[in-house]
Amino acid sequence: MKILLPAADISQGVARLAREITLAYQGEPLTVVGVLTGSMVLLADLIRQIELPMQVGLVQARSYRGNATRPGALAINAQMLPDLRGRNVLLVDDIFDTGRTLFELLVQFDELGPASIRTAVLLRKRGRVEVEYEPHFVGFDIPDEFVVGYGLDFNDHYRNLPYVAALEPHELAPESPL
Ligand code: IMP
Ligand code: MG
Repeated sequence: MKILLPAADISQGVARLAREITLAYQGEPLTVVGVLTGSMVLLADLIRQIELPMQVGLVQARSYRGNATRPGALAINAQMLPDLRGRNVLLVDDIFDTGRTLFELLVQFDELGPASIRTAVLLRKRGRVEVEYEPHFVGFDIPDEFVVGYGLDFNDHYRNLPYVAALEPHELAPESPL
């Protein structure tokens, strides 16, 4: 695989995201909601650098099935979510690809009566967006390649890598040894 973002670059990008988020809310309390499973590494690093009072919740959204790299129908599990009524909600995900996951979550969260909803992602893939929406806080724009590491997976592998790397086509084959 080919390293796109070394750990040191990610660390700088996450620090910048945290500063932007801290400034944007001007001391207002926040509910940060991480989208499982891909956001877990970013979430842990990000929340420790945001200087605001906050609650943290989780939601599970699955669009990629097994080792398919194309999105299927979205399944949302909101059982780990705190009460969002009247809260400033910041949805955190690993990557904005077609945008369908975050957009669908936004639509569903809107019905829970939050004061505001904004979104933060580590990565945004260029030329892939299929919705009329852009995340508020973006760590890095990357080319249209399938990436893993720092929470991102291929068939639940590679989430633990401290860097973000693009998989080569032969590494994306279903029979590829891991
Ligand atoms: P979207 O709904 O197309 O924006 O896709 C969002 C979800 O797809 C993310 O939360 C990731 O789980 C997954 N995803 C999209 N692109 C990649 C990738 O390059 N590597 C790993 N997961 C990806
Ligand atoms: Mg994911």
